[in-house]
Amino acid sequence: MYIISGTASNTVAEELSHILKIPRANTISKRFPDTEFYVRILDNIKNEHVVIVQTTYPDPNLVELLLLQNAAEEAGAKKITVVIPYYGYARQDTLFQAGEAISAKAIAGLISLNADIVITVDPHKEHILDFFSTSAKSCTAVPEIANYLKQKNLDLILAPDKGALSRAKQASNIIGCDFDYMEKTRIDGTTVEIKPKNLDVQNKNVGIIDDIISTGGTMAKSIKELKIQGAKKVYVSCTHGLFAGDAIKKISLSGCDEIIATDTIHSYYSTVKVAASIAPLIK
Ligand code: R5P
Repeated sequence: MYIISGTASNTVAEELSHILKIPRANTISKRFPDTEFYVRILDNIKNEHVVIVQTTYPDPNLVELLLLQNAAEEAGAKKITVVIPYYGYARQDTLFQAGEAISAKAIAGLISLNADIVITVDPHKEHILDFFSTSAKSCTAVPEIANYLKQKNLDLILAPDKGALSRAKQASNIIGCDFDYMEKTRIDGTTVEIKPKNLDVQNKNVGIIDDIISTGGTMAKSIKELKIQGAKKVYVSCTHGLFAGDAIKKISLSGCDEIIATDTIHSYYSTVKVAASIAPLIK
């Protein structure tokens, strides 16, 4: 059995290798002068179960995953488990308007071509797992994030909208604090409205937990509202820190005390590791 890491997911692959005591395969990956990607698996993986680990965001990482899967198939791997720490395109999970692509379905179709099992972390919605024509499972990084937040003496953990309340509830059980949600309305891809809601946060330490931080609009508006209502400290956390554009600046300027993300996507804010949640699903 081998772990094969794509270039986007080295820390997750390294941790999985450590937890499961499975060696990492040696690979060569490079870009041709025209930027096309090249991969080669150096170890003999014929008849082996291989676990390929690669986040599919941004797009070049998706191509790399597809090439790694093909390389494993061509080399005669017996079983291919694909671990996708962050599955991009999951938010376009239905036809919102006629003529669109169902992106989550389109990408799942490609990944399913050379995969026996797909495992991902906190997919935006669980039903996207049905788009894979192979067996697909998910796990959650909420316990790891909550364990990190435990050190922050939180009085309250919030979901940015009612739909995400179960995430805040799960975290609150681990942290040992109250939980609630904010009233969010999405206007468009970059604009959200957070309605004032009386949360009794006066002089309290508050955490917010979400699956994704993209433009940072949701978190920035939430932090501002909480600070207006007298919150002492506000910590924002997410599984997948995309931090598109000036997200970090927006969040920081709104008075955030700390930004916490996991290593499903590498960034300066990837303080929480997710491998412990993924490992039990690999068999
Ligand atoms: C939406 O349903 C997600 O859970 C996140 O709240 C959203 O993706 C965050 O986006 P942004 O950072 O652009 O506000």
